[in-house]
Amino acid sequence: MTRTPVNVTVTGAAGQIGYALLFRIASGHLLGADVPVKLRLLEIPQGLKAAEGTAMELDDCAFPLLRGIDISDDPNVAFDGANVALLVGARPRTKGMERGDLLEANGGIFKPQGAAINAHAADDIKVLVVGNPANTNALIAQAAAPDVPRERFTAMTRLDHNRAISQLAQKTGVPVSEIRKLTIWGNHSATQYPDIFHAEVAGKNAAEAVSDEQWLADTFIPTVAKRGAAIIEARGASSAASAANAAIDHVHTWVNGTADGNWTSMGIPSDGSYGVPEGLISSFPVTTKDGTYEIVQGLEINDFSRTRIDASVKELEEEREAVRGLGLL
Ligand code: NAD
Ligand code: LMR
Repeated sequence: MTRTPVNVTVTGAAGQIGYALLFRIASGHLLGADVPVKLRLLEIPQGLKAAEGTAMELDDCAFPLLRGIDISDDPNVAFDGANVALLVGARPRTKGMERGDLLEANGGIFKPQGAAINAHAADDIKVLVVGNPANTNALIAQAAAPDVPRERFTAMTRLDHNRAISQLAQKTGVPVSEIRKLTIWGNHSATQYPDIFHAEVAGKNAAEAVSDEQWLADTFIPTVAKRGAAIIEARGASSAASAANAAIDHVHTWVNGTADGNWTSMGIPSDGSYGVPEGLISSFPVTTKDGTYEIVQGLEINDFSRTRIDASVKELEEEREAVRGLGLL
């Protein structure tokens, strides 16, 4: 049976993450080895030529699942019929820029993109926002798309999740495949909280396996939360291949489901669970099945975790207030 190709729109296609992402989408890693895809690339006019170069390379790979590539600088064209949208292109923070300036600049990107998704995307659209500040950019896009179910707008904290798994595996001397039920709470920023109290290391409680609160507070949490800055310092550019890998993981898990006895972390609109104000796009532990997700309920939150979750959620509330003040919500 021939399957209908899935339309995948990628913004910022000519950027670093775009270059690491597109070839993996086209080779079947995003949706599955039997799912044909059509790529819709969105760039600003200055990025179109480089996007065309990437499209030539994609052609040269002769990927059996790739059924077409369209390139545009018009969001109304690029999101037309989109089933999956990866919003990667964003305005990076430059010298002398305040957070408010960044939020305003990104409002100019994510508001029209949200509106174009609202007007043109397919009914089953799933949106992942990667461009920073990812959680609040997702909120801006979502607010501009009132006809799309709000849970379809998500923000990427899977890179933080993967970073935390790797750090915990190294500390405990097990392969990453032995780490389960790790959670990232809050914002994709330095206030995020990687939580190991419910995680498992080779089937044992991770906090008990580690049994070292000083390592947790002084090494693990800051290493994960500040990893993005450490990569920028080391590479002279922000993470690209690992960010693209996390975007692939996020959508693949959303579409294909979490394994029994495990969960993942996604930035999603809060339903008020765990005291996170309703509507904020915050990271939670979630299970996924048949293209939908659910927050893992009933986890006991100790004082150590509560303080840290609250601090990150407070930052998200401040960002929401700032973009409200700019008329973006
Ligand atoms: P980059 O500067 O290499 O590429 C960004 C691309 O976006 C450029 O080609 C630019 O022309 C394009 N662009 C800008 N405005 C656009 C618009 N309105 N429409 C379409 N395209 C547009 O940056 P990068 O390294 O690829 O990173 C992209 C974003 O991802 C940054 O905001 C970065 O901070 C963020 N990021 C997020 C995570 C995460 O975990 N959530 C991780 C790494 C990077
Ligand atoms: C990351 O976590 O690697 C990025 O979000 C860092 C950044 O500021 O681009």
